[in-house]
Amino acid sequence: MPINKKIRELHEKRERVLKGGGDKAIEKQKALGKRTARERILSLLDHDSFSEYDMFAEHEARDFDMQGKSLPSDGVIIGTGTISNAPVAIFAQDFTVAGGSLGLMHSRKITKIMDHALKMRIPLIGINDSGGARIQEGVNSLAGYGEIFFRNTLSSGVIPQLSIILGPCAGGAVYSPALTDFVFVVENISKMFITGPEVIRTVLGEEISMEDLGGAMVHSAITGNAHFYARSEDECFDQIKQLVTFIPWNNQNKARRFDPAEPLAEYNIDEIVPDDPTLPYDVKDVIKAVTDSSEFFEVQEFWARNMVIGFGRINGDTVGFVANQPMEMAGVLDVDSSDKAARFIRYCDAFNIPIITFVDLPGYLPGVDQEHAGVIRHGAKILYSYSEATVPKITVILRKAYGGGYIAMGSRHLRADFVFAWPGAEIAVMGPEGAANIIFRREIAEAEDPEAMRRQKVEEYKTKFANPYVAAQKGYVDSVIEPYETRKILVHAISVSGNKSVSMPSKKHGIPPF
Ligand code: HXC
Repeated sequence: MPINKKIRELHEKRERVLKGGGDKAIEKQKALGKRTARERILSLLDHDSFSEYDMFAEHEARDFDMQGKSLPSDGVIIGTGTISNAPVAIFAQDFTVAGGSLGLMHSRKITKIMDHALKMRIPLIGINDSGGARIQEGVNSLAGYGEIFFRNTLSSGVIPQLSIILGPCAGGAVYSPALTDFVFVVENISKMFITGPEVIRTVLGEEISMEDLGGAMVHSAITGNAHFYARSEDECFDQIKQLVTFIPWNNQNKARRFDPAEPLAEYNIDEIVPDDPTLPYDVKDVIKAVTDSSEFFEVQEFWARNMVIGFGRINGDTVGFVANQPMEMAGVLDVDSSDKAARFIRYCDAFNIPIITFVDLPGYLPGVDQEHAGVIRHGAKILYSYSEATVPKITVILRKAYGGGYIAMGSRHLRADFVFAWPGAEIAVMGPEGAANIIFRREIAEAEDPEAMRRQKVEEYKTKFANPYVAAQKGYVDSVIEPYETRKILVHAISVSGNKSVSMPSKKHGIPPF
């Protein structure tokens, strides 16, 4: 066959494959506000950077109606490309082909690109849009999922793994995203659940819509499974492009340095925290008052809002922020906020990102609900992750640091490298009111005017303990600083920590309170 004929044959083959599941299925996809799998990849990657592999893959299933049935690319597109000129590996499930269901070849394509990402030490991005295990392929589909989960685990902490949920992600399929670092969801499009409405109706006799069961906001605000929420696919891709500017491409590297920039003047750090310790404020304003261009890229914005986590830059370097949020439940630590902070600390530690902690909390949340929900086990995660983290750890106590909260929030005792406190910091076993009621109970009860005595004892306790100077005398706090000095001191602390080197006892791995 002359070469130009062969080339024509290739073009025809390509064209057939590029039609995916056909016009009708594509129309249905578009009507739902969804792009096709290839369109998604092209929208996310740099222009003209995508290189596709295994376009002509075919399944070998024989059962049911599968013999001879062609499923273009077997319902998943894989390849490599670049984002902001840096390489990434990517797969996108094609719902127009057998509902993006996962059979053996489909899973082999995914695991091929996963192996490639790990070998080349480049990030892996997975776009999930699938009806789950391909029913006709039986146990081969389940085997495929197992192979994916295994690789997610091997790659964890070595390369960034991002999961984008752009359609259904049902049954065991949800566990691959759950094993990755960050999950992105889109309003009205993302649906994640183990057992769908059909099963719930059959087994439990309850009616629930897919949206209420596992829609984008459910996973952003209630379950904590999702890290980023967007209103459209475009917004979601913009979030990914932004995230990748903050993180390194693998665990051997640091994040890219940017040109330093000053915070915006509108964030005046001296005026954010009210003098009255009972009044709330938005800790994100404090973060924006110290970051370059006042930029803060928040992670899990809608879940466990009493804890704020996310990325920013200080003098051009990426840092991770962990901060109590006084605007939400006074910033207490509870089951969910402990989980949220602990996982993020481990992310930063795995990927060489210094951690800055802003402390202002009255301690762990008391109550039967929290105790029975396992606040001991969950609360321990934050202790574990701070203690284990060897990246530079810098802590600033803005106001309250009471009890277990003081220890947990990146204290010197969990090996913070630098601990600073603002002059209004109150570092004590518990709040002055509670403390005075307990240790001066008899004096208060026996006083002529118990209320006046109580107030006097609260003041006594405050003067003696609820300040930063007792901790500063002991060296638990390195320096008491004025708020306006914070950015300068953070810049300095990060610059002297660039070559931090500590070694941990040799072990296979620890046993964190998962
Ligand atoms: C084979 C599937 C499929 C599947 C969908 N399709 N899911 N084919 N295996 N799992 C096919 C449909 O037959 C249909 O083919 C096409 O994809 C589009 O599906 P529709 O149902 O028309 O789409 P829609 O109405 O949008 O509904 C989407 C859906 C629904 C909600 C995802 O398809 C659905 O409930 N699918 C089954 C989900 C499920 O129970 N999966 C198994 C989970 S168990 P045609 O040819 O008609 O276009 C599991 C175990 C994994 O995943 C465990 C790992 C540890």
